[in-house]
Amino acid sequence: MSKAVAFSRYGGPEVLETVEIEEPHAGPGELRVRVRAAGVQPFDTAVRRGDVKGYVEVSFPQTVGNEFAGVVDEVGEGVTGWEAGAEVIAFTSMNACGEVVTVSDQNVVAKPPGMPWEHAGVLSVCGQTAHIALSALKVGAGDTVLIHGAAGGVGTMAVQLAREWGAAVVGTASERNHDYLRDLGAVPVAYGPGLVDRVRELAPQGVDAALDAAGRDAIAPSLELVEDRGRVGTIGDYVGSRQHGVAMLGGTRTAARLAELTQLYADGKLRIHVQRAYPFAEAALAHREVETGHVRGKVVLVAD
Ligand SMILES: NC(=O)c1ccc[n+]([C@@H]2O[C@H](COP(=O)([O-])OP(=O)(O)OC[C@H]3O[C@@H](n4cnc5c(N)ncnc54)[C@H](OP(=O)(O)O)[C@@H]3O)[C@@H](O)[C@H]2O)c1
Repeated sequence: MSKAVAFSRYGGPEVLETVEIEEPHAGPGELRVRVRAAGVQPFDTAVRRGDVKGYVEVSFPQTVGNEFAGVVDEVGEGVTGWEAGAEVIAFTSMNACGEVVTVSDQNVVAKPPGMPWEHAGVLSVCGQTAHIALSALKVGAGDTVLIHGAAGGVGTMAVQLAREWGAAVVGTASERNHDYLRDLGAVPVAYGPGLVDRVRELAPQGVDAALDAAGRDAIAPSLELVEDRGRVGTIGDYVGSRQHGVAMLGGTRTAARLAELTQLYADGKLRIHVQRAYPFAEAALAHREVETGHVRGKVVLVAD
């Protein structure tokens, strides 16, 4: 048997528990990884609450987590290029927070030597989400981009990627995160009433594209600021995207995309901020913290 964080009914963070499941083994095309760290996303909490019932299939006890890092301990049939002992970063679907997990060899890249587990465990999904979203908005050199929710998990990645790709960034956050955003390379601005005027003042050259990485109250002001509505998109506001006819930005996560992000990290061009690490046994506290909606960077679960 093997341990995993799971829930057996929908509800608050308290429904999360450590359960014993049948020990997984690497099937054809898979690796088994002994997990050292796994990121927590708002998506995990939404599935756990039952908010996405009907869209996301669950099977109780339902395990959680989409991004993790750890050490390969079994190599499945047909897999080449990986050996037991390899340190990897990976992405999966609601199956990251276990003692050992199996994953497709297509979803795995090598962890750079020296990258702390806490960082490796939180890069896969928010990094790729930011990369996919900025690519869809065609962000590049000379652009000025407005990033809503710039201090969060995705926002932190998006600010740095946009800067790396040659864009100027205005990022929304509450006052306490403004120095953090400056440090990442963004011009900070407070969200809330008056946002459009404040952004116009900070970016008199105009705003070319806007990414809603906050998931709330961001599309309408973006449309006032960006001329081309094809360059406004959201990753979290399903209702707003339909209401305003702007894109829900999504795409395929790939090892190639993750490898690009990992290389940027290794080159010192992409920083990761972990607000807090919890042991797996305290996953409920980690979910509670993410559900505040005010995490700076990421919350991570680490193996005991
Ligand atoms: N994580 C992913 O990979 C992923 C993938 C697809 C979609 N999404 C969706 O994208 C959204 C962001 O995800 P995330 O993981 O980055 O979330 P997160 O880390 O939990 O976001 C927290 C951040 O949101 C900021 N924030 C809160 N209210 C805000 C507002 N009204 N305007 C601007 N910023 C605000 C907070 O800044 P202050 O503390 O300064 O208020 C905080 O830094 C969510 O809706 C999520 O479901 C995420």
